[in-house]
Amino acid sequence: MNEKIKVKVHNLIKTFGDNQVLKGINLEVHDNEVVVVIGPSGSGKSTFLRNLNRLEAPTSGSIVIDDMDIADPKANINKIRENIGMVFQHFNLFSNLSVSENIMLAPVELKKASKEKAAAQAKKLLAQVGLESKYNATVQSLSGGQQQRVAIARALAMNPDVMLFDEPTSALDPEMVGDVLAVMKQLAKQGMTMIVVTHEMGFAKEVADRVVFVEDGNIQEQGTPDEIFNHPKDPRLQSFLDKVLNV
Ligand SMILES: Nc1ncnc2c1ncn2[C@@H]1O[C@H](COP(=O)(O)OP(=O)(O)OP(=O)(O)O)[C@@H](O)[C@H]1O
Ligand SMILES: [Mg+2]
Repeated sequence: MNEKIKVKVHNLIKTFGDNQVLKGINLEVHDNEVVVVIGPSGSGKSTFLRNLNRLEAPTSGSIVIDDMDIADPKANINKIRENIGMVFQHFNLFSNLSVSENIMLAPVELKKASKEKAAAQAKKLLAQVGLESKYNATVQSLSGGQQQRVAIARALAMNPDVMLFDEPTSALDPEMVGDVLAVMKQLAKQGMTMIVVTHEMGFAKEVADRVVFVEDGNIQEQGTPDEIFNHPKDPRLQSFLDKVLNV
């Protein structure tokens, strides 16, 4: 991990109607840091990630990523999304396009990359996620775990500085979870700055530099994996861990 602050979230509030979902989130993420976000269903984890790449517009507060305040309504949303890759629970690949076409789409359409360059990059990214042989495959011919690895490759094709993952393995059959987590682990090792919402506590323990516990729209506790898993202080965190670790 590096001293440089990559993402600085200050007093982030998000309200839907009269439901205040994020109640003043403060978080700094350093360059190369892996932050794992845990917390009960409905606590605001997805809403938080969606604000970070402007899939939702913050109600108030600031989100500064590489010196750009993306909460500013005048911010250039396309530019923001180029720098911040996101991987979802449901991978949302285009099923009418081949694997490589899915990966090449955004670089060609948004970054005006040449087809040759985008194709070479797609090849390289597929190798990185262990799917070299699937370059020409149809999306439907892939397993869920393979599709999720293609979705990761697709996000990486924009050369993002920060990658957001929202429960990337929770829709997968158990035997496919490991392959996806291995790709994410590799990415962390290469120095990618990552914010990962997951229920995979093994991944959090092994890969996270910091674990953040979100409950009821607030960060209630944060610390190293050792602090959070072995010495949790907040009673709500203790009861959350009792539930997720004893299933
Ligand atoms: N677009 C929306 N419009 C209205 N309410 C929303 C919207 N998105 C989220 N919410 C509400 O915000 C709250 C937090 O939802 P969110 O999806 O962020 O929780 P979560 O922590 O990701 O939960 P889970 O673990 O189940 O994925 C919920 O009460 C949800 O109903
Ligand atoms: Mg969610």
